[in-house]
Amino acid sequence: MRVDVFSLFPDLVGAFLDASLIGKARAEGVLDLRVHDLRSHASGVHRAVDDAPYGGGAGMVLMAEPVFACVEAAAPPRPLLGLAPSGRVFDQGLAAELAAGDGFSLLCGRYEGFDARITDNLVDGELSIGDYVLAGGEVAAFVVIEAVARLVPGVLGNQASVDEESFADDLLEYPQYTRPPVFRHWPVPDVLRSGDHRAVAEWRRAQSLARTQARRPDLIERRGGLTDEEKALLERWAPEE
Ligand code: ADE
Repeated sequence: MRVDVFSLFPDLVGAFLDASLIGKARAEGVLDLRVHDLRSHASGVHRAVDDAPYGGGAGMVLMAEPVFACVEAAAPPRPLLGLAPSGRVFDQGLAAELAAGDGFSLLCGRYEGFDARITDNLVDGELSIGDYVLAGGEVAAFVVIEAVARLVPGVLGNQASVDEESFADDLLEYPQYTRPPVFRHWPVPDVLRSGDHRAVAEWRRAQSLARTQARRPDLIERRGGLTDEEKALLERWAPEE
């Protein structure tokens, strides 16, 4: 999978891409990650990439010319997605869609936003990582790359952990425990140490359902409420939440 990132802070992006699991996948050639400096195609003495908005107002706008030139020189994999708070909100479903393809590209904004000619004629769409405003798209790009990369086979050590985790089934993850069996006065639930695999699976599913119902009822609603079987599981394992 190839991923290209366009940024005014290529060193920052490069440092992120070289760290941790993503850095390892990059070094092993599982991920082909390329960083492009938006300033590399800026012209003029000051190599400006931003300018004041027509019509007035606060802040600066990322100029079309250097951004088009940089992207066109790189011929990056599509879709090319601009990162902006006005974009489609990124979620696990979109991460899975991007992970299933051969690659994509991210354009990080700074300042007050992109010249609209970039949004209208260069990118294929816009992505937001949530309803808040960042100072630039780099942190959002990190979120998108990390969420997608860990779904790509060969990036995570244990593929099963991808299948079992939060959101794979539109449910939050069940609680996990490791040694010791009693820490301070807090014990590990007996069922997890029982060796009864079926009981463990049922308990975990009940915990996931109860947690999701308590913390994210919107997710339960989105999947059409609880089935009779799920209600029975909840009753049987009577989780506390
Ligand atoms: N740039 C600024 N804010 C952003 C957000 N919430 N998501 C993606 N890119 C952004």
